[in-house]
Amino acid sequence: MTLELKLEREMSSIDYNEKIPNNVNLAEDRALKRALEHWQPNYIEWWQDMGPEESQDFEVYLRTAVSVDPQGWAQFGYVKMPEYRWGIFLNPAQQDRKIHFGDHKGEDAWQSVPGEYRANLRRIIVTQGDTEPASVEQQRHLGLTAPSLYDLRNLFQVNVEEGRHLWAMVYLLHKYFGRDGREEGEALLERRSGNEDNPRILQAFNEKTPDWLSFFMFTYFTDRDGKYQLCALAESSFDPLARTTRFMLTEEAHHMFVGESGVSRIIQRTCEVMNDLKTDDPAAIRAAGVIDLPTIQRYINFHFSVTIDLFGADQSSNAATFYTTGLKGRFEEGKRDDDHILKNDHYTVLEVRDGKLVEKQVPMLNALNEVLRDDYIKDSISGVKRWNKVIEKAGIPFELKVPHKAFHRKIGALSEVNVSPSGEVLSDKEWKQQVDNWLPSQSDREFIASLMGRITEVGKFANWIAPPKIGINNQPADFAYVRFN
Ligand SMILES: [Fe+2]
Ligand SMILES: [Fe+2]
Repeated sequence: MTLELKLEREMSSIDYNEKIPNNVNLAEDRALKRALEHWQPNYIEWWQDMGPEESQDFEVYLRTAVSVDPQGWAQFGYVKMPEYRWGIFLNPAQQDRKIHFGDHKGEDAWQSVPGEYRANLRRIIVTQGDTEPASVEQQRHLGLTAPSLYDLRNLFQVNVEEGRHLWAMVYLLHKYFGRDGREEGEALLERRSGNEDNPRILQAFNEKTPDWLSFFMFTYFTDRDGKYQLCALAESSFDPLARTTRFMLTEEAHHMFVGESGVSRIIQRTCEVMNDLKTDDPAAIRAAGVIDLPTIQRYINFHFSVTIDLFGADQSSNAATFYTTGLKGRFEEGKRDDDHILKNDHYTVLEVRDGKLVEKQVPMLNALNEVLRDDYIKDSISGVKRWNKVIEKAGIPFELKVPHKAFHRKIGALSEVNVSPSGEVLSDKEWKQQVDNWLPSQSDREFIASLMGRITEVGKFANWIAPPKIGINNQPADFAYVRFN
């Protein structure tokens, strides 16, 4: 097949002639199309107000989804971000898909919303949807201090795709939740990350992402929370939600790559400087303009702990309800060989008894937030091991670790105690004495801020980060990933 023909075939699965690109036959549903075309200008207005700062005219080498075929689903080219083709893409329907967990196990998957679950489904979709524009808002200043054009492009890629994820959720709200759904769609454009009067729904999405170390940590840890939430929703009995989130996961992989490789490149650069100067003294390393490993550890501690709170309370009757009613499954539900009903199962959670952390068995259904959190933790650790490989290869005796899961928690039973990164329960006084060794201090943040400065020369990288081994879409690292106008 010639390349041209191939592209044509791939394109054919998504209708790009429509104002809103889609593979859901939007043209045939006049009312829905009208409603979404009405929302579209409000979305663009939000992008212009709250999207990446001072970047509206840049031409960015971005990928755009052109198909839901996992082979060749994206096309690369220069796009001005406000002209990005945000659209609605669902994975293909699976014929005769059955519900495979909870009380409705074995029944046909739902193609519309069952009345009795309407409120809960809406809440789940709105909560997921709210995180998408929130992260764009959190990251909107970062373009002003990008360490290279390559990184600037990656930031913008993540941003436009989070914008598309908002589209994905708003489509579901408009199509399946009538007037309430349309109101929720408007509210998603009105809340603002960090705003006191009208904040985003989840706390991690109201935190600042002030610098690029934070950005890479966020995309490594917090976008990975996104992956686990989307995986759980991709099991949903509500088929349109399952198909929407499956496709979002395709895009999410790149976001986590940006985080993992970003932190890895920072570590690599630090190790180079440590070996050149033959020192592990943080002050000397900082004086050479790179980020010392203990500071990187403190950022890991912060982002890990804030992110695992996103999974919710360790015991939750909502989690049980969402599972039993078939709204939200477990990570890789289909690959587990239990009864997928879980009424007779138990799970271990931690609780505080007499000032100590102790294990406790609780009904599995109530512990499903903890189950998902533990799956997430396993996955997060594997990337940290790959970071350690970089340090090991440089011959430096230092190991990065994710902190104990009870460290610095704000949600659930563990929020009641002070726990060190290695898992000791501490008094308030002990905590206060040591917290600056464990979490980024004001002076850490000021130091990181002092390193930030925009690099716009093709192929040049800031001193504190190594270039990537390969560029995007097989382009070299010294490619003009962004063209300024
Ligand atoms: Fe997302
Ligand atoms: Fe993401």
